[in-house]
Amino acid sequence: MTSAGEAGDPDSGATRPAPPTVDESVRIGGLRLNNRLYRAPLLECAGNGDDAVDRLIAELEPAAAAGVGFVHQGATIVRGEGGCAAPGMTRVHDPAFVAELERLTDAIHAHDSRIAIQLEHGGLRSMEAWHAGYRRANPGVNQLAVSEPPCPLRALDRLGFLDLSPHVLTTAEVEALAADFGRAAARAVDAGYDAVHVAGANMGIAQQFLSPFYNRRDDRFGVDPAVGAGTAFLELVAEAVRARAGDVPLLTKVPSERPTLPGIGPHLSDDDAVRACDRLVAVGFDAVVPVRTSVFWDMSVVRGEFPTAAWRDSRFRDGYREAFGSLPRAAAIAVGNWAESFVYGFEPGWNRDLCRRVRERVDAPVLCEGGLRERAQLDDALAGDADLVGMGRPFYAEPELPARLLGADTDPGVDVVCENCNNCAVAQAAGESGICRTPSVLARAGRLRKHGAYDRSSGPERTSDRDDRNYK
Ligand SMILES: Cc1cc2nc3c(=O)[nH]c(=O)nc-3n(C[C@H](O)[C@H](O)[C@H](O)COP(=O)(O)O)c2cc1C
Ligand code: SF4
Repeated sequence: MTSAGEAGDPDSGATRPAPPTVDESVRIGGLRLNNRLYRAPLLECAGNGDDAVDRLIAELEPAAAAGVGFVHQGATIVRGEGGCAAPGMTRVHDPAFVAELERLTDAIHAHDSRIAIQLEHGGLRSMEAWHAGYRRANPGVNQLAVSEPPCPLRALDRLGFLDLSPHVLTTAEVEALAADFGRAAARAVDAGYDAVHVAGANMGIAQQFLSPFYNRRDDRFGVDPAVGAGTAFLELVAEAVRARAGDVPLLTKVPSERPTLPGIGPHLSDDDAVRACDRLVAVGFDAVVPVRTSVFWDMSVVRGEFPTAAWRDSRFRDGYREAFGSLPRAAAIAVGNWAESFVYGFEPGWNRDLCRRVRERVDAPVLCEGGLRERAQLDDALAGDADLVGMGRPFYAEPELPARLLGADTDPGVDVVCENCNNCAVAQAAGESGICRTPSVLARAGRLRKHGAYDRSSGPERTSDRDDRNYK
């Protein structure tokens, strides 16, 4: 007979611990989390204006109030100029602004949840390369580049879809950039953030260092042949964070890349990603988030439908014109987006197998996200693929989603209302904020709300607390 938290082993007759459920606590470095569900980083588009902190609280607190263990704020930019991948991103270079974020961290902590800040610089993916209006308004801002841009990007520049004016970083400038990540981390820790998440797999500068598609450097920041990835920049960022922010839990997404078009490369394979995770944990990252991406900023990280409604919505037309320079060019980009949707259709839990490979190799918690959509799937992923499970878009559609997913007596069949249509994602190019934009989905969430599905009188019940147990 087995006790709670144990399962019989039919082969040996001995007992072994049952896999954890999403309701059970877990540690990342010295940080204890109440459960294993996290809100993946999603752009809030809150900017840095007078209402920025209130907007962030409005966006993130409901998940904490609904019981989520760990909130990952969307990417924030470590410098005061350039580097934003999308309109409305929040910058964290200004100590006075970051100090105000203590209201946000207090709001999350009031619900016994924990929050990570995500630090980023867009590099070649920045608005100064792709956003026509931003480029016009900021003609002197060049893109920080790891190496000269690869041929496919130069071709897009010649065709007028990008406006490249790269500044290839010297070795000293790479060191200065890593130091800026460290300074931003220190400010964030002072403001009460519980963890620092370096944006490593959203095609920003960290991925550009990791990826042989972008990184052809011959200094110490080049691709390490033993790993197959350029991990030295992230290693230096880890050092800079440790030197300035102490032993705050540190995590990063790590990409495995697909070529955007056949024959375009080189790119990071699953094997490279596994080795990169191993190296990054060895140099001090406390957790990793392995994700499948591509070498280009496309739909690979948000697999799903072609967002027909968002492209057709007349309210966003001016925003598309401003972003892409003209409506015909916006239409051409929409066609490309439509073609991508055939390559990057939705797949449930599309990073699970990669996470499992990483988990078998590294001695640190592995976080899994990407297409996880129902309670049973979360517990199933925790049975071997990952130590924490996260969701992104479903939190736009249901900010209080954890109230429906957590709890020992939750029906395993409970699933999210998000339909992976990506209307939320493409609207952000037009400067729109990060919310669900599909009326039928919002109506379903509204009906659930009306019937009390998000009410939560007390904290979600935990089946057991395995704090003293290794996370594996
Ligand atoms: C609109 C939007 C914005 C996102 N912003 C970020 C971000 O700032 N940083 C990041 O690492 N990932 C970002 N992601 C990726 C998500 O964290 C997540 O990996 C992805 O949405 C897949 O998970 P899902 O299928 O549960 O949505 C974003 C995704 C979307 C749709
Ligand atoms: S618009 Fe709504 S339903 Fe569509 S992907 Fe975004 S959150 Fe999900």
